Amino acid sequence: MALVPRVFLTAEQIQKRVHEMGDEISAKYPEGPIYLIAILKGAFVFLADLSRAIRTPSRIEFMGISSYGRGKTSSGQVRVTKDLDVSIEGHHVLIVEDIVDSGVTLTYLLNVLEQRRPKSLAIATLLDKPERRLRPVDVSYVGFKIPDEFVVGYGLDFAEDYRNLKDICILGEA
Ligand code: IMP
Ligand code: MG
Repeated sequence: MALVPRVFLTAEQIQKRVHEMGDEISAKYPEGPIYLIAILKGAFVFLADLSRAIRTPSRIEFMGISSYGRGKTSSGQVRVTKDLDVSIEGHHVLIVEDIVDSGVTLTYLLNVLEQRRPKSLAIATLLDKPERRLRPVDVSYVGFKIPDEFVVGYGLDFAEDYRNLKDICILGEA
């Protein structure tokens, strides 16, 4: 059966929430720089909007983590596919993620980054699917809690498709 994307969160709803998150983060970090570490590829659109909504001086870095194959479910195996090119020792670090699902990816990443002795380490995610959690993760900033549905758009993909949709859509059968 064909899969079709149905709008779940509009571009306007997302912008409004991302700006609220930017205000909250700006208030929490009066002093920069904040190292915003975006997890490739899904977080790239959220990073672009969130970073411009944060008024505290920030630096932009990217990390690649792979935990998913080409399907809708995690392979359960996590590895770093692109590491940071800078040291985060003594700096405020905010991980910028598109969605927290099982929590496996972030549990692994928190472990890796904690060992590098940042001054602080926190997570901002646009979406959270709490029902799917296998590992508890302490997420400081959540855009939207969503039900257990597979979503695409605004950076999120299904087998590399749909990342450039403006809205966040549920991908379901026609
Ligand atoms: P976790 O390790 O299960 O928490 O996986 C998180 C990662 O899985 C996210 O960064 C996404 O790349 C991917 N993912 C989880 N749920 C979805 C979804 O509904 N749509 C697209 N990607 C998803
Ligand atoms: Mg991801």
